[in-house]
Amino acid sequence: MSNLMEIENVSKIYGPLKALSGVTLSVPQGQWLAVMGPSGSGKSTLMNIIGCLDTPSSGEVFLDGVRLSELSPGELTAIRREAVGLIFQQFHLISHLTALENVMAAQFYHSMVDEREASEALEGVGLAERAGHLPSQLSGGEQQRVCIARALINHPKLILADEPTGNLDELNEKLVMDILHKLHREGATIVVVTHAPEVAAHAGRVIVLEHGRLVSDSVGEAPSGGAGEGEGEGADDPKADFSEADGEAAVLNRPGEEGLEKNTDFSPEEIRARS
Ligand SMILES: Nc1ncnc2c1ncn2[C@@H]1O[C@H](COP(=O)(O)OP(=O)(O)O)[C@@H](O)[C@H]1O
Ligand SMILES: [Mg+2]
Repeated sequence: MSNLMEIENVSKIYGPLKALSGVTLSVPQGQWLAVMGPSGSGKSTLMNIIGCLDTPSSGEVFLDGVRLSELSPGELTAIRREAVGLIFQQFHLISHLTALENVMAAQFYHSMVDEREASEALEGVGLAERAGHLPSQLSGGEQQRVCIARALINHPKLILADEPTGNLDELNEKLVMDILHKLHREGATIVVVTHAPEVAAHAGRVIVLEHGRLVSDSVGEAPSGGAGEGEGEGADDPKADFSEADGEAAVLNRPGEEGLEKNTDFSPEEIRARS
């Protein structure tokens, strides 16, 4: 089919600095793309622009045929909620809501709250037993997985993950990669920023940014089935033992651009009232 995403000559300028410089890129529907490059090369800037969180200084981005530059900020937000799932480290959980309520808060923004669906989403990331825990009662790896459940609640066709495994131990990294493989098999288009070659190796295509420029673009073999990857079946089980998950908990509730972060003051009752 057509390209889910077209990036045409996109630049992003901060004063004298070109964070992105004339990037052109087409991403077909269903592709799994890894974005690599040294720190400061523009990877997050690119992801923010693709994810409708930021706009380019020049150039055009088309998502599913829609020219983003023609949209109002409200329309951009709507597209982001509708079509894009963001797995970004800075999108922290709301500290006074349980894991389940954090997922329900995402439903709240998207459409209707559905507690059963939210429970299933947590189950899908192996957190059924942690649904009633507050973020402070979860390990860093568990928090990251709540974020993933939250990002996927609207079944986005485009999944953007910026260093999704950066703070995770091996077990949680494997689990996150298995989730991405499952989504990919179900037809999602995936863009993953990573420093780790073993994470990039899951992708069917790898691009490299340097100083805001696209300097390499290589298409490899299509991503394999994922779960196995020569490591046996054990970690495929979402109920595997996560007690070793890393303790490097994310900083909670740093203000961000996401609606969820702007509205962290609502109560569990308010969320449930939307069901
Ligand atoms: N809001 C901003 N204001 C000024 N400079 C920025 C801003 N965001 C990013 N930059 C700069 O743009 C460059 C690319 O940043 P970024 O996209 O975050 O890189 P990466 O994710 O590859 O580490 C860096 O030099 C960074 O300091
Ligand atoms: Mg970055």
